[in-house]
This record gives sequence, C-alpha cells and structure tokens, in this order.
Amino acid sequence: MAGEHRLLLHNAQQLVLICTKGEKYLLQAGMQNLAVLDNASVVIGKDGCVKAVGHADAIRRQFSEASFEKIIDCSGKCILPGLVDAHTHPVWAGDRVHEFAMKLAGASYMDIHQAGGGIHFTVEHTQKASEEELFNTFRHRLLRMLRAGTTLVECKSGYGLNLETELKMLRVIEQARQLLDSNISSTYCGAHSVPKGKNATEATDDIINNHLPKLKELNLNGEIHVNNIDVFCEKGVFDLNCTRRILQAGKEIGLQINFHGDELHPMKSAELGAELGAQAISHLEEISDEGIAAMASAKCAAVLLPTTAYMLRLKQPQARKMLKEGVIVALGSDFNPNAYCYSMPMVMHLACVNMKMSMNEALAAATINAAYALGRSHMHGSIENGKQGDLIIINSSRYVLKLLFKT
Ligand code: NIG
Ligand code: FE
Repeated sequence: MAGEHRLLLHNAQQLVLICTKGEKYLLQAGMQNLAVLDNASVVIGKDGCVKAVGHADAIRRQFSEASFEKIIDCSGKCILPGLVDAHTHPVWAGDRVHEFAMKLAGASYMDIHQAGGGIHFTVEHTQKASEEELFNTFRHRLLRMLRAGTTLVECKSGYGLNLETELKMLRVIEQARQLLDSNISSTYCGAHSVPKGKNATEATDDIINNHLPKLKELNLNGEIHVNNIDVFCEKGVFDLNCTRRILQAGKEIGLQINFHGDELHPMKSAELGAELGAQAISHLEEISDEGIAAMASAKCAAVLLPTTAYMLRLKQPQARKMLKEGVIVALGSDFNPNAYCYSMPMVMHLACVNMKMSMNEALAAATINAAYALGRSHMHGSIENGKQGDLIIINSSRYVLKLLFKT
C-alpha cells in the first residue's frame, strides 16, 4: 500500500544494531563485540518504531519503494541507535564561570560548596527564575544535546530544594517531555544538597513527609511523570542513613532508585544501592571492591561520568575493573553548571582516553546500557524490531570514526 510505512533508511555502509535477541544490557564480552551489519537498511513504521532491519537486498525484496512516505539514501554513511545520556542536571539559571577560576586557583568542589557556592549558588538563581525562563534555556540545551546525537536523556530536578521550586523544575521537564522531540526520563533530586537553614535530618524529614506525598499525588493524576529518585550521598551532604530513608520512601511511591554515590569519599553507596534494588548509581570514583561485587550481582548499572572526573581532577572511576567484575557500565554527560558538556561523543571520547574503555564499550555504554540505567532498554538503546526508531546517521563510512575521533 502506498505510504504504508513512514521511512526507509537505505543502503547504509554500516548499521550498528548494538545488540540482538532482546538483550536488556551488555556485559564486557557483548560490549566488545557489537552486532554490526554491512550494507544494511532499516524500516520505520507509522508508529515510529523499527519495523524491519537487515541487509539492503533483503529489505528491498521485502518492501516496495512505493510503500514508504520517505526514503533516505544512506550510501557511504553509518546508522546507529540514538545516544542515551543517563545523567544530566539541565534545568537551572545563573552560571558558575567564576567558580572555574576558583578551581583553577586550587579550591576543591567541596571547598566551594561549603562556602555557600556551587549547588547553593545555582539554587539561589533557580528559585528566583520564572518557569518560562527555565523552560527556554532548558529547551536550548536539549536541542544542543539532540544535535550531538542524544535522543533519550535523563533530566534531574535538584536546584530547588524547597517543594515549590522542585515542582517548578519538574513541571518544566514535563513540558519538554510533551513538546519536544527528545525522550526524557525525569528524576526528582530534591536531596541534591541540604538547604541553607536546615540540617540533613530535617531536610530528609521534609522530603519524606512533604515532597514525596505531593509527587505521588501529581504522578497519579498525570500532571507530571517522574520516573526516578536521586540523592547526593556524600560526606557533608546526605549520609548513608538519610540516603537510605529517602530512597526507600521514593521506592515506596513507585520511583526507580538512581542516585549519586561514592563520588568524593567512599560512602558504601554502591552496597546500599544494591541492597535497595537501585536501577543505577552514578559517579562511583570511590567505590569499594565489595561495592563492585554487590552492583554486579544486583544488576545495578554504574553510570560513569568522565566529564566530572576531568573537571574536578578526581581519580578516574575504575571502569576496567567494573567491566571485568561483570558490572553493567553506562555513561552520562552529567551536564550541569560545573560540567558544561552537551556531547555524548565527547563523553565517550573521554571514557576511552581517561577510563581506558574500548570504543565499542563506550558506544554500548552510551546506548543500550545507558537505556538500561533508566529502565528503558526494552524500547531504546539498540536497533531492533519493535523498539523506538531513534536513529542517528553519521556522515562516515566507519561507525567509530566520526563519533570518537572527531568530537
Ligand atoms: O553530579 N555531585 C553532585 N551533583 C552534580 C553537580 C551539581 C552541581 O555542582 O551543580 C554532579 O556532578
Ligand atoms: Fe550529577
């Protein structure tokens, strides 16, 4: 039937499926040997999902050209699944360029935070900003990410801290989810920092008694769609006990656990996350050997953030050891006022150079495994029949070339 299918991407020199047979994530061996087709085509149906993928000749035999609304000739080019960014803080006002100078002069991230800057500075500006202003800058950031190949992105609140501003941020994320082309996984991160004038226990009580019941109500009536709960589990921020209480309460209202842990100090965050059934934990520069083992057996994804380790001159996360021990390794940009990077290709590049991941491992970590970290790998992260047709076409005849060497 004429125009029965939305799109045919034809004759790609290489098409990187990432994985096959419905796998939800890839461990080291699968990451090293990604499924790649030469001279391939992919068909996208009217519903926006992949209808068929295979060798160009086979697709040509199966479908008549007239059945497509649109055909794109991909000769000499490569097709990959859209990239997935598993960790960002993209809604905020104010900039922190002045802090870069302080860091270059020797101040640490925590020195600045404890002096009332860092997250506190961004909170002050975000609280004052209008919803419209936040949406406009957020929209621009999402478009920049999309242009760099990111089609599914995790977006956190966390620069409000008070209920009113946290909800304002979550509404802005919801608006983008409805109006823009990017796919979004929305995260409530009200425990990103202890608000001025409260201690960590008071802030924890406020989140559990006031924030989470409101989120539950708004999620149920469909005003917002929050998917994950996050806490900054760190010395001088939320300790292990407060973190446990908040994550547990979030889980009870149906949110996936996905939090910041073991970044600047060893906190036993990995062990806690594994125990609570976390979907993912981010950072993990200071993870213990026991934490690595616990995450591997709990199938809890490690979201590694090479931009942060680079910017803050932290020790690099032990990607090689995690891969060897069977942890599901994913990547995220950590886009925030402190790590201003929109580009997952740049993140993959840093993961290769600084964390010693192979190019195929970095690509799997930025697609299927990042989708797994968001609980979305049944629909995103690889090119397979029935999954969402989020694809990128790169103007290069070898799939790694442009993505990783020309950031
Ligand atoms: O993941 N570590 C905590 N949160 C962010 C930084 C947020 C900020 O400094 O504004 C991170 O790096
Ligand atoms: Fe972060």
